[in-house]
Amino acid sequence: MSDNKVYRASTTAPVNIAVIKYWGKRDPKLNLPTNSSLSVTLSQSDLRTHTTASCSPKFTYEDSLLLNGSPQDVSGARTQACFRELRALRKKIEAENPSIPPLSTYPLNIVSENNFPTAAGLASSAAGFAALVRAIADLYELPSSPTELSRIARQGSGSACRSLFGGYVGWEMGSAVDGSDSVAYEVAPASHWPNMRALILVVSAAKKGVSSTTGMQTTVATSALFPARANEVVPRRMKEMEKAIAAKDFETFGKVTMRDSNGFHATCLDTEPPIFYMNDVSRAAIRIVEGINNAAGKTIAAYTFDAGPNAVIYYLEENEKAVAGLFKAMLGAKEGWGGNRGVAVPVNDEAMVKVESHAAAVATTLKEGVSRVILTSVGEGPMKTKDSLIDEAGEAIH
Ligand code: DP6
Repeated sequence: MSDNKVYRASTTAPVNIAVIKYWGKRDPKLNLPTNSSLSVTLSQSDLRTHTTASCSPKFTYEDSLLLNGSPQDVSGARTQACFRELRALRKKIEAENPSIPPLSTYPLNIVSENNFPTAAGLASSAAGFAALVRAIADLYELPSSPTELSRIARQGSGSACRSLFGGYVGWEMGSAVDGSDSVAYEVAPASHWPNMRALILVVSAAKKGVSSTTGMQTTVATSALFPARANEVVPRRMKEMEKAIAAKDFETFGKVTMRDSNGFHATCLDTEPPIFYMNDVSRAAIRIVEGINNAAGKTIAAYTFDAGPNAVIYYLEENEKAVAGLFKAMLGAKEGWGGNRGVAVPVNDEAMVKVESHAAAVATTLKEGVSRVILTSVGEGPMKTKDSLIDEAGEAIH
């Protein structure tokens, strides 16, 4: 009897937001960066990609991927690189054990779903590629470590390599030409510093900005500030940041996070033609964070911005009222304050009075420009799940 079985494996993978930014490639094909970077993995209760990978000798079509119900093009070099690398690892095992099914020769059918609005402009490619690679690795029963898989996910999207781990994650730029040493590593697990919170202000962008892939290439080619950032500033900050995380020193963590975000956006402005990712709403969020830190007399909140106007604000749980509570006083009417933790953020009205009188215009800009908020925290890496998005017959479950 011929084998008609549908082989399946499912996983969920998190989003990560960098505190030391990856910006610049020394090899665009392999996504090898010009500097190391460091991120915080965010909780999957709020932001995650759920992926089921399946394969079967009965699939007659080519490799396919369905994301949030829409068929995706898998012919791109990045997705193809991930498929090719994972198949090669499976082939090796098959060669050693001729009795196991030759899964590497079957077409792949992959179904993915995000639990957050794709339109929010959040870095969904990181969670997407991390989930894709982890799910196929599980389907193929590869003995690969998260480090090894991060080398593959990196080829899908650079920042995806950091989503293979939970907690506080570094990506070592490496020096090998083939990228074998450009991998992610755990700086500290989520349990080391579990009270790290993140408030994301989703800012409605009028039009789509420059993609990170294109933006970073242009920065490397034209910015005069860029070499100093990649060669001197970031290596120093990587050390400072790892030390701050080890010591749970929020003051340093916050200061370095904000300096690095501003430094990265400065190289964008220094690019020809200049790239503007932050807008007036982003800058209003910065002003509020500055106000919060001035009032506290120390750094208790830290903003960071990726290749878009959304603000991510890190703070510790004990400062929830002073930080998230203040934003809630301005943005309480927006969607998202419920979060998934079931803890209501107290509104910080007293501090709000100060903000309104000193910076009413800033508060108005925020109110007008933020479409929703996401309250989340540091979280775990990819997790296997029995919850399959593909049924036994190989059909997508809706
Ligand atoms: C600003 O990982 O999206 O978010 O490798 O071209 O897919 P590609 O780029 P991508 O870039 C992320 C850039 C960033 C900073 C960061 O996450 O470190």
